[in-house]
Amino acid sequence: MTHINRRHFLKAAGAAAAAGMVSGCAQSQQSTHHSSRQHGKSVIGLIAPKMDVVRVAFIGVGQRGYGHVKRMSYIEGAEIVAICDTHSEVLERSAKFLSDSGKSKPALYGNNDLAYQDMLAREDIDIVIISTPWKWHAPMAIDTMNSGKHAFVEVPLALTVEEMWQIVDTAERTQKNCMMMENVNYGRDELMVLNMVRQGIFGELLHGEAAYIHELRWQMKEVEHKTGSWRTEWHTRRDGNLYPTHGLGPISHYMNINRGDRFDYLTSMSSPALGRAAYAQREFSADHQRNKLNYICGDMNTTMIKTVKGRSIMVQHDTTTPRPYSRHNLIQGTNGVFAGFPNRIALESGGRGSFHDWDEDMSYWYDKYDHPLWIKMGKEAERNGGHGGMDFLMFWRMIYCLRNGEPLDQDVYDGAAWSVISPLSAQSVANRSESVSIPDFTRGQWQTAAPFGIVGA
Ligand SMILES: NC(=O)c1ccc[n+]([C@@H]2O[C@H](COP(=O)([O-])OP(=O)(O)OC[C@H]3O[C@@H](n4cnc5c(N)ncnc54)[C@H](O)[C@@H]3O)[C@@H](O)[C@H]2O)c1
Repeated sequence: MTHINRRHFLKAAGAAAAAGMVSGCAQSQQSTHHSSRQHGKSVIGLIAPKMDVVRVAFIGVGQRGYGHVKRMSYIEGAEIVAICDTHSEVLERSAKFLSDSGKSKPALYGNNDLAYQDMLAREDIDIVIISTPWKWHAPMAIDTMNSGKHAFVEVPLALTVEEMWQIVDTAERTQKNCMMMENVNYGRDELMVLNMVRQGIFGELLHGEAAYIHELRWQMKEVEHKTGSWRTEWHTRRDGNLYPTHGLGPISHYMNINRGDRFDYLTSMSSPALGRAAYAQREFSADHQRNKLNYICGDMNTTMIKTVKGRSIMVQHDTTTPRPYSRHNLIQGTNGVFAGFPNRIALESGGRGSFHDWDEDMSYWYDKYDHPLWIKMGKEAERNGGHGGMDFLMFWRMIYCLRNGEPLDQDVYDGAAWSVISPLSAQSVANRSESVSIPDFTRGQWQTAAPFGIVGA
């Protein structure tokens, strides 16, 4: 092996280990299929007994979780009873916000990493909102369900194939909801496109494009606390798509993934990893810890997913290069295409011009196809903020479904299928882009599960 090849191999082996491969590719391929695992009844369409008031607890109230506390406090029928965070400053900040807004004081936890388990032992909690660093998502979600509560977990749901299965198994055994909170599915544009897809405007769906392209190098300056203090590490551990769900969630709902179609396999390729080391060199002193890290995650990762029905989806991840934000949000059907960032439409029939030209005037399309949920709640959502209203709308729907005895808009199988793209992309990258099977977390139920009703209002 030449020096370069050996270096590449070691890098790839490291990435494979980070991707959750225990002892080589063959075993890993096999372990994506767990048809023989012990499991309970499917939780597709799970309806929890109606709750009059939803009693809410939080684990993690840092940058994201604090916004969640605020949003939840605005929602009728939700009551915040307890909060856990190991960083006392942010814990107190949330408690102060609630007391300043005249709410009753929640019980506070957080004197050690497992203090959340003491909180979970309480009997006055119905749901737990988990907004902690990624490595905590799986243990916290599993402990939440085992304690008899419903889990709502930030993105991604978990980090490895094995963790996804453990979460699915626990949801089925306990018959509890475990929803990964993909807020982008509640964006105005994404809801409108879902509405249009369901009305057949684009014809038969063929292809989608999704992305998380968001320059976040600046987070490397967060060293003690905040997102960059733990997220930066992932650029040294995994070469693949670190954050696949924001773009992929909406495309999956357009395509009825897990409800009539499902992800079959993927292949993935990464560009060189140059931007983070260069940024560290430019922004930090030579002896700064950010200059001692080995950044292995390719600046741009491109993954292609094939569905069982033959559709293709491109998913990109790039939080490093200097370029404008995009989630692509492109859906192509036999009659035409919608593309996001910026929004544009081209249709063969039913459009306002030739499909050779983009129609970029969205006001016409909003007037015609705005989603009923947006028409009903959009103004209030925009007032309450959070990524243009999508965060508030998601919380509003969660509480609405729980109070009205309706199934949630996203279930544990969605969270697992969308999130597993991360470890599997790393596995493919480490093996010259070889295709990797994507587990069927529904264990065959995708064939008979009815599509979501278009998210109700
Ligand atoms: N959906 C979105 O648009 C969106 C946006 C930002 C972040 N996120 C997700 O939210 C999550 C949190 O990200 P963030 O930016 O808020 O990070 P953050 O570091 O600001 O917050 C994480 C919090 O978790 C706390 N914590 C860590 N370990 C804990 C433990 N064992 N027990 C209790 N608390 C613990 C930390 O003290 C911190 O306050 C991540 O999963 C991230 O991917 C999602």
